[in-house]
This record gives sequence, C-alpha cells and structure tokens, in this order.
Amino acid sequence: MENYVIEMLNIRKEFPGIVANDNITLQVKKGEIHALLGENGAGKSTLMNVLFGLYQPEKGEIRVDGKKVEINDPNVANRLGIGMVHQHFMLIDTFTVAQNIVLGSEPKKGIKIDMKKAVREVQELSDRYGLQVDATAKISDISVGMQQRVEILKTLYRGANVVILDEPTAVLTPQEIKELIVILKTLIKEGKSIILITHKLKEIMEVCDRCTVIRKGQGIGTVEVSETNPNDLASLMVGREIRFSTEKKPAEPKETILSIEGLTVQDSRHVDMVKELDLDIRAGEIVGIAGVDGNGQTELIEAITGLRKKSAGKVTLKNQDITNMPVRAITESGVSHIPQDRHKLGLVLDYSIGENIVLQTYYQKPYSTGGFLSFKRIFDKAKALIEEYDVRTPSHLSKARTLSGGNQQKAIIGREIDRNPDLLIAAQPTRGLDVGAIEFIHKRLIEQRDQGKAVLLVSFELDEILNVSDRIAVMFDGKIIATVNPKETNEQELGLLMAGSKLEKEGAQN
Ligand SMILES: Nc1ncnc2c1ncn2[C@@H]1O[C@H](COP(=O)(O)OP(=O)(O)OP(=O)(O)O)[C@@H](O)[C@H]1O
Ligand SMILES: [Mg+2]
Repeated sequence: MENYVIEMLNIRKEFPGIVANDNITLQVKKGEIHALLGENGAGKSTLMNVLFGLYQPEKGEIRVDGKKVEINDPNVANRLGIGMVHQHFMLIDTFTVAQNIVLGSEPKKGIKIDMKKAVREVQELSDRYGLQVDATAKISDISVGMQQRVEILKTLYRGANVVILDEPTAVLTPQEIKELIVILKTLIKEGKSIILITHKLKEIMEVCDRCTVIRKGQGIGTVEVSETNPNDLASLMVGREIRFSTEKKPAEPKETILSIEGLTVQDSRHVDMVKELDLDIRAGEIVGIAGVDGNGQTELIEAITGLRKKSAGKVTLKNQDITNMPVRAITESGVSHIPQDRHKLGLVLDYSIGENIVLQTYYQKPYSTGGFLSFKRIFDKAKALIEEYDVRTPSHLSKARTLSGGNQQKAIIGREIDRNPDLLIAAQPTRGLDVGAIEFIHKRLIEQRDQGKAVLLVSFELDEILNVSDRIAVMFDGKIIATVNPKETNEQELGLLMAGSKLEKEGAQN
C-alpha cells in the first residue's frame, strides 16, 4: 500500500454546458511535490477547487490520509490540513500582512483581537520557513512575489499539511521563481506535501517528483519526473508534438511607427522610473524589451498607452504627437495593448466574454449605428474570435470570470490583434498559457509583424524574447542600455546586461 496523503478518485465536476473534470484520479504521496499539468481549460484549477471544498463534485471520492472525507467548504479543507494559494490572490490590499493571515482565525485576548500576538506568530512562522515576510507591512506596499508568500504563510498559519499552489510562478520574475523553489524545498523538508500547477515544463523537471497530466477534463496518467522529459510531457498534455522555437523569416523593417524621445515617467511615489528614454519601433519589426522587473518597463508601457502621465519627453505614432492624448484617443489612433495584469486592465470579469471582446469598439461601427448596439454583430465577432483563438468556453455568453486563466488571456490577445493596430504592445503575453497556446501566440505576433505592424514585446521569459524579437532592447534603471541582435546573443549575455553591465562585444550597436 502506498502512503498517500491525498487521493482524489474518479472525480467528476460539471458546469453548465461543460464537464470540467471527467473521472479524474490524482494521488499525492506524503512529502512529494506533485505537478498537475494540462492545457488551458483542462480542468486543473477546478480539480483543486474541489479538493479545497469550493466546489462539490458530482461523483468521486476524496481521501485524506487514507480516510474518506466530505469537503463541503474551505474551512473543512483547512481542518483536514489542506491549504490553497489561488491563481489570482485573495488578499485585502488595505490590511497588513498579519491582519490578512489571521483573518477569520484571529488570536483573542478576552473578546478583543490580540494583534500583537498575531504579528508575533506570523513573524515566527515566516522565519521558520525562510519566507522573509514583514508581518506589519501593508499588502498594497509589497511586491507580487511577497504577496504570494503571504498566501503561503496563510495556509501554514491554518495548519496546512498539503499546500496547493495554482500557477504560482506565472506572476513571478525569474529571480522570484528561484526563491520560491527554495521555499518549496524547505516546506518539503518540514514534512509538507505540495501540489503544484505550472505550465513551465522546466520547473516540473527541476522540482517535482511526479506529474499527473489531464487533457480536456480527463486524466491521462501520472509519470515519474525522473523518467520523463519536457518533450514527452508536452505531447502527453496536448496530444501532439510541440515545437519549442518558432520559425520566422528575417524582419523587413519599414517606416518608423513609434518614436519615443527623452521620455521620463514617474511611478505613484513620484520616483523617476523611466529616465529620458529614446526608442524607435518600425513597421515590420518586433522589438523585445528585456529587463529585470522594476526597471521601468511597466511605467514605459503605461506612458505610451496613456495610462500614466509623462513628466517629460515626446511620443509620436506615425508622425502624430500622442504624448498628451487620453487613453481612448491613443487606442483609436492605432495602439493595441495586451496588458500585463489581465484582471485589472484586460477584462471586465462580470461581463460576458462576447461583451469583453468589443470592449473598446462597441460604440463604433459596425457594432453601433445611430446609437443602437447590434448584438448580432457583436456576438458574431465574438464567436469568430473565440473560434480563431481557440478560447475554450461553453459559449460567448459565459461570464469572463468563469473562463480558465489561460483562456481569458487568449480572448484578450484575440481582441487586441483583431483591432488591426499599427502598434501592438504585448506585455507578458504568454503568461499563464500552456505550451501549445504559447506556440500559437508567437506565430500570431510574427504574423502581425509580417503584415507590417510594429510590435513591442515586454517579457520576463528570455526564451520568448530571444525567439520572437527581431531586436532586443535591454532596459536597466529606466533606460535602454543596449540594443542587441537576438541571433548574436544568448541568455547569459542578456542576463549580464539586464544586471547593468556594459556591452563590450565588438560590432554591437548601442
Ligand atoms: N465557475 C465556473 N463556471 C462555469 N464554468 C467554469 C467555472 N470554472 C471553470 N469553468 C470551466 O471549466 C473548464 C476548466 O477550467 P479550469 O479553470 O479548471 O481550467 P485550468 O486547467 O485551470 O486552465 P488554465 O491553465 O487556463 O488556468 C473551463 O472550460 C472553464 O471555462
Ligand atoms: Mg487554472
């Protein structure tokens, strides 16, 4: 008999119009890191929400430490030692770390909450697991990586033995991912078990013991990681061979589309994040921005798209000065934006996916004529894009909220490309996408370039930057410190440049 801490046997979970989990079995051994792999919409988050008591399965059995259990709600899951860090965090921004962690199970002194004790307990727990979290910091003041650690601490505070992490690395920078991996290993040493959802096959190879693969709601099987490789994992998951690099012909750059001169942008604390930056992007080329998070990339994009005020400098699009235009005017003059944060900027979660697809165009022809909306035209468009971009949803009427994370992203990408922009800005476009969808999106970006669009790609994934860009601009401390040809560089060199070291190689342009 194997020593399983969690067993989910023949689980079935339906939503209106879709079977999200069809007879799936997942068995997690004590002390292992178990990967859960599957395409966008395969049913991973659903399965974990069943385990965490957020959804009740129609069929199947769950066992914890060999005993059959009914997990009716997350409190029951907590009591059984199951904790979950969701794909989208659930922290309260205006509360401190400690307040968030003890929420609902606060230590009391008489009838009053004992906040001193809470802070002490949280700090002790953080130290024990090497999380380096400041218990008194406010959530809105800490980085996404730190917020994730707070979520992990929250599960530990509630006594989790099994920690479920739903795509924890999708929102992290490469450096933060390294740190998270150390934390996961510490958790295992302390006797915890982990279920890890990730689309990054490298991560599975690096930290996981076993991997369960699901495809379109069905269990495909469980493999020992030591006996597999990224290619086999990808084929298991998608059901076909995946190419990891995208074919493309050399770029043929034409006229300048975007021109940025002397741009300076401040963040919300009035610190200069972009400093007198110059950058040109021409029609028919993809310029990739490589940089460590926090070197001004976000502020740069926000400034170009009009979301953030510029303190100095000039931005022109096809010779038109757009420096001080409002967002909508910039959008209308030919800029599309696939935003980094799809929930804050990309989608209105309570609107249908169909409505989301016309979010910036509904007031224009052919969707609106004489003040009337044509729902038929809107929905025909939505249906066509859903088909083309393989957005997996039962219908265009489904609320955006109910789509899986990756499918929300595919819908945004489809919408932005379909608007036929002159400049397409793609910020972390493949974040949270499965390998098949990444291949598809890379092809689309290159296709846009070949149609004469200017493409600005910002990504933390160096593979992506190297594979897709025609020119790489390295951003450091608010400036472009080097421009390199992807064919003449590699991850090591990019890494050094991103850390601020100068380019000394001969023949390199700056
Ligand atoms: N609350 C819900 N209501 C209706 N349908 C839902 C709901 N939650 C998920 N679904 C549907 O169930 C299917 C599985 O979604 P799930 O979120 O589990 O996928 P996933 O494997 O986590 O994908 P991703 O990698 O993109 O996060 C999808 O088709 C999704 O649209
Ligand atoms: Mg998911």
